[in-house]
Amino acid sequence: MTWLITGGAGYIGAHVARAMSEAGERVVALDDLSAGVPARLPAEVPLVRGSSLDAELLKRVLAEHAVTGVVHLAARKQVAESVAQPTRYYRENVGGLATLLDAAAGAGVERFVFSSSAAVYGNPEVDLITEDTPCAPVNPYGETKLTGEWLVRAAGRAHGMATVCLRYFNVAGAAAPELADTGVFNIVPMVFDRLTRDEAPRIFGADYPTPDGTCVRDYIHVADLAEAHLAAARHLASGARGDLTVNIGRGEGVSVRELIDVIGEVTGDRRAPVVEGRRPGDAPRAVASAARAAEVLGWTARRSVPEMVGSAWRGWRLHRGG
Ligand SMILES: NC(=O)c1ccc[n+]([C@@H]2O[C@H](COP(=O)([O-])OP(=O)(O)OC[C@H]3O[C@@H](n4cnc5c(N)ncnc54)[C@H](O)[C@@H]3O)[C@@H](O)[C@H]2O)c1
Repeated sequence: MTWLITGGAGYIGAHVARAMSEAGERVVALDDLSAGVPARLPAEVPLVRGSSLDAELLKRVLAEHAVTGVVHLAARKQVAESVAQPTRYYRENVGGLATLLDAAAGAGVERFVFSSSAAVYGNPEVDLITEDTPCAPVNPYGETKLTGEWLVRAAGRAHGMATVCLRYFNVAGAAAPELADTGVFNIVPMVFDRLTRDEAPRIFGADYPTPDGTCVRDYIHVADLAEAHLAAARHLASGARGDLTVNIGRGEGVSVRELIDVIGEVTGDRRAPVVEGRRPGDAPRAVASAARAAEVLGWTARRSVPEMVGSAWRGWRLHRGG
């Protein structure tokens, strides 16, 4: 049994490739290297350079590597970019997925894991977001993830493919410094960036209806997330049928102020944050119910927020010299 990991040279994909390979699964990575770094992949994992939009290439890779399962992470992931370039996001995220599902069905692949996101929910006003909380994405990126889930389930039903959609919450950290996220799109690298420039971290809005007035999120260590993929792959390999949709989070809310405090502890730079106005579109609270993942996949996050931030900081220092 071989797993194809698309986006395998990306931040999360490389962690998944490593975790699955270390657990004894045979894997092959596909990545167009638009954002990927080949050196992130372990030596034993072959990398095919190419796009999920290239039907001929996919057909060849699936046959040559005798692929029986797919973990599909390849996608564009920047919310602001998706607002500016919606057609590109639909073409690459949804079109790439459709091309891949056709190729997988044609090759007789029976197992498919899809990288979805908490962005499918939009801004629900609930304490814990369960998988049954209504989905109402608020930007094109989230829309492509929700459309992707619909497509995965429909193709699974049509072609007898068992599927899992993993809805990741806020991902941070690194299993090793060289695997760290080098982009500055999420709060942890954004705060590191400010500190490295000798500037105070920024808080966007401290008047939300939350205990300390700042937004509350669910942060998940990327090494835990990688293990969730392994659990999903094993779930499918054990003969699961049909479709499964699962939140991947810690099930615990952390406010922006609390997160900045942890970053201060980890970096030793405890300067006070500056409070600015709210950013449009930020929900006061977005925390996962992690019950279904525990129940169905037997997976629970093991790593703490300080461990996550510490590992991200080691990665930041390697790549940015902070
Ligand atoms: N990072 C997060 O916080 C987060 C949260 C929720 C969901 N996700 C999803 O997880 C997945 C991986 O995200 P990431 O943070 O590792 O991003 P990333 O940009 O580091 O990884 C994506 C990888 O896919 C590759 N890629 C992009 N389009 C491709 C295509 N058409 N064909 C082949 N390769 C392509 C890129 O080169 C890159 O290596 C994405 O689907 C993203 O939407 C990420």
